[in-house]
Amino acid sequence: MSNEYLVELKGVGKTFGSVVALDNVDFSVRKGEIQGLLGENGAGKSTLMNILYGLYSPDKGDILIEGHKVKIASPCDSIKHGVGMVHQISTLVPEFTALENIFLGTEGNKYTLPLKEERKKIEQTSRDYGLEFPLDVKVRELPAGVKQKIEIVRALYKGAGLIILDEPTTSLVESEFQQLLKSLKSLVGKGVTFVLITHKIKEVMEACSSLTVMRKGKIQGSLTKQEISKEKLVKLMFMEKNIEVTESALPKVELPPAKLSGKPVCELKRVFVEGGEKSHGLKDISLAVYGGEIFGIASVSGNGEHELATTIINPSMLARGDILVSGKSIKNRPTLDVFKERVSYTPEDRIKEAILPDGSIKENVLLGHHAEKKFLKGNIFIDWAKVKTDAKKIINEYNVMAPDEEIEIRRLSGGNIQRVIIGRAFISPIDFLVTHNPTSGLDISTVEFIFNKLVEIRSQGGAILWINEDLDELMILSDRIGVLNNGELKGIFKREEFDKYKIGLLMIGG
Ligand SMILES: Nc1ncnc2c1ncn2[C@@H]1O[C@H](COP(=O)(O)OP(=O)(O)OP(=O)(O)O)[C@@H](O)[C@H]1O
Ligand SMILES: [Mg+2]
Repeated sequence: MSNEYLVELKGVGKTFGSVVALDNVDFSVRKGEIQGLLGENGAGKSTLMNILYGLYSPDKGDILIEGHKVKIASPCDSIKHGVGMVHQISTLVPEFTALENIFLGTEGNKYTLPLKEERKKIEQTSRDYGLEFPLDVKVRELPAGVKQKIEIVRALYKGAGLIILDEPTTSLVESEFQQLLKSLKSLVGKGVTFVLITHKIKEVMEACSSLTVMRKGKIQGSLTKQEISKEKLVKLMFMEKNIEVTESALPKVELPPAKLSGKPVCELKRVFVEGGEKSHGLKDISLAVYGGEIFGIASVSGNGEHELATTIINPSMLARGDILVSGKSIKNRPTLDVFKERVSYTPEDRIKEAILPDGSIKENVLLGHHAEKKFLKGNIFIDWAKVKTDAKKIINEYNVMAPDEEIEIRRLSGGNIQRVIIGRAFISPIDFLVTHNPTSGLDISTVEFIFNKLVEIRSQGGAILWINEDLDELMILSDRIGVLNNGELKGIFKREEFDKYKIGLLMIGG
């Protein structure tokens, strides 16, 4: 048996409902390396690593550690096999101290653990690896960079020889990243191995000794340290086709020549928005979307695209700058006022942001439209008969598979829920649509249906701001594409200038 690899995943498959998250994936890690794991949003990176960490069980496939097949059914099992993980979103309990967080989940408790000795051990680990932090401060008071150190030390303290870091630098500033990098290198020198999930080209170039690229649930390719170059990386991430994936799976639509309005329908003028824990916010964004055009936004998630959508719909988020719709400022106006300017919105998370899951289709159709005259009786009461008529119309026109409009919307499949959401966006005439990942996780026929709807709005002179995680899709249907990275607009490409390499490179900060 060969021990060349510390960890091998072989033929791993995983589906969630109708979504194939992993399709026959082989992935291996050599001892002492920092292996980069890259790929677009939704490629399957976290799912693959969650399987290695025992959070998900694979439908198919094997896990080998140092050449031996093992069963990892929970994080307890993975820790026993020396695998630790620092998740995309911090798992520390904010109200606990660093020390309490590190003890959390270890066998034993406050009373049975030899606290003093363990504390010394942790302090020693921190010092050895240059990962020092205050042990007795509540975690909620600590900055992101320190939280990460705590999570790494927690994994080391539990005996991890392989640590998976799932996008560890999203919330770090440059100096914190440099510090993390230094710690990783010193840990590698002491025999620790890492898998680093990232979207940033700079991190790969500076940190990784090899890398693997995933795309749509498959391994797209691997590069060794010597082979890693910007060009090869962008090609693997965005360009090289993995036979079955692109060709047959891309929606087919006709995009007639654009007929643009003379004046923009929506204009952002030097817009600034504060970032959150998972995002950069927006820094000085200016752009104009014209009637009759689909303006695509390409970005890796967390680079400001969420703020871009939500600030237009909820302009109170603006820190500085202005947003005009049809020439009128919507600064400081509430969302309902924005909708009155003939703006419509389909949010990123269809379950959490777009619907009331327990409500009927009918009730969900009314969401966001409840103040419109056409749905009111005597200016106060909802005219449910009218809502029902529109709900029925959506079910018919948008081919929603549902017995009737009274069924709870949560009972529908994702694709059917999205058809209702798209239908709802168009029940009143609009000039401007903001739509965020409208096709994510949907089957090809629904994607084509949605694409055709967007084209229809465009042909009627509507303006569309389309934020989408899939660059292939964006390139099919956009008249222009703007690239967001780090909260800044890094470039705007006209259709005839579309270049996957250039756009992809800007998306990952190159
Ligand atoms: N618990 C879940 N339930 C349903 N679908 C899921 C679940 N976890 C992941 N998926 C789906 O599996 C696919 C792969 O998701 P995954 O989170 O592994 O991607 P990723 O490469 O980590 O993306 P990102 O860069 O956005 O973090 C996506 O289509 C996602 O929607
Ligand atoms: Mg992920």
